[in-house]
Amino acid sequence: MSEDRPLVIVRDGALLDDVLRLAAAAACELDCVPDVTAASANWMRAPLVVLDEQALTSRELDRLPRRGGVLLVGSPQPESEAWQRAFTVGIERVVCLPAEESSLVASFADVAEGPGVGGGRVLGVIGGRGGAGASVFAASVAIEAARAGRAALLVDCDGIGGGIDLVLGAEHEAGLRWPDLTLNSGRVSMAALREALLGVHCGSGSLVVLSCGRCGAGPTPDGIAAVLDAGTRAGCTVVCDLPRDLNAAGWQVIDLADLVAVVVPAEVRASASAQRVVERLADRARELGVVVRGPAPDDLPADAVADAAGARVLTVMRAEPRLGKALDRGEFQPKPSGPLAAGAAEVLDALFAEQAKAVA
Ligand SMILES: Nc1ncnc2c1ncn2[C@@H]1O[C@H](COP(=O)(O)OP(=O)(O)OP(=O)(O)O)[C@@H](O)[C@H]1O
Ligand SMILES: [Mg+2]
Repeated sequence: MSEDRPLVIVRDGALLDDVLRLAAAAACELDCVPDVTAASANWMRAPLVVLDEQALTSRELDRLPRRGGVLLVGSPQPESEAWQRAFTVGIERVVCLPAEESSLVASFADVAEGPGVGGGRVLGVIGGRGGAGASVFAASVAIEAARAGRAALLVDCDGIGGGIDLVLGAEHEAGLRWPDLTLNSGRVSMAALREALLGVHCGSGSLVVLSCGRCGAGPTPDGIAAVLDAGTRAGCTVVCDLPRDLNAAGWQVIDLADLVAVVVPAEVRASASAQRVVERLADRARELGVVVRGPAPDDLPADAVADAAGARVLTVMRAEPRLGKALDRGEFQPKPSGPLAAGAAEVLDALFAEQAKAVA
């Protein structure tokens, strides 16, 4: 027995299967005991107690001290005597399954994660024109965050982008992609994601990646919300690679992001196109800025790009040398002292400066 785990006294086999499944979704280990007598040793120490109607009828329950955090799980319509009894023994909450699965997953996730460390931030990255370098920049920021020792999560939101795992040369690595992921409950823990998703080593740090696939569906708005919530509760730097043509899932990111970076090559046409993108986002994005990247074929200054786009400059980068070859060979990681790494670090500073402002 462990005092860190929820104590489960569920005699009904089908119900127990449901409880085990929902705990697994939250990466929460359980202590399952056959009856109330067996539960007495850890009754007060367990962070949460889950019991069913059969356990509720046990007279042993009356001998145990009252405590908080006791949940009754069961069918949508418990007998009225069960409600009465639940009240008498001090049940905190009745969770009807399957209707309230998400609330049970959330309770398990709270135990599995402990008190959330918080402090996570969400960055959205979008191209000012097609092929602007948004996916490469999103991957670079996430890698830089991981290299700097932050917990980092890279979320691919472009369902037809071919998969950001391919940018990282990790397309053959194990780990669930969006089409494999079922997030029915509306809540998932970062611990569960870390275990299930693709992991990429970056220097001494490690990056968790939720990529789209070469086929299958991309993210849904609810899926995005659950993943971003898990990441921020766990204190992660969450970087979302967005398609320019935003669908509902993409708009969900715009609504939740602390900062949106619009990547714009230093070209006249790209600046004009970026202006349309900025215009569309301006009402919904909390903070918005442009990442101006080289090459600048006619030396267009970054300020002119930002003026045309209508947003402040977050960073200005030269073109990353030998990037195309590295991408094609699956060998991409921004050179530690190169333009992409420096630009990514500047955008991370801007992302966390917003947080400092919010706290002040
Ligand atoms: N920092 C950079 N320096 C030089 N070239 C770059 C840089 N970033 C991207 N590129 C070039 O632009 C190409 C497209 O990059 P990327 O796929 O990141 O663009 P995108 O904006 O995500 O495109 P899409 O519109 O398809 O989503 C890369 O394959 C590379 O050749
Ligand atoms: Mg892209």
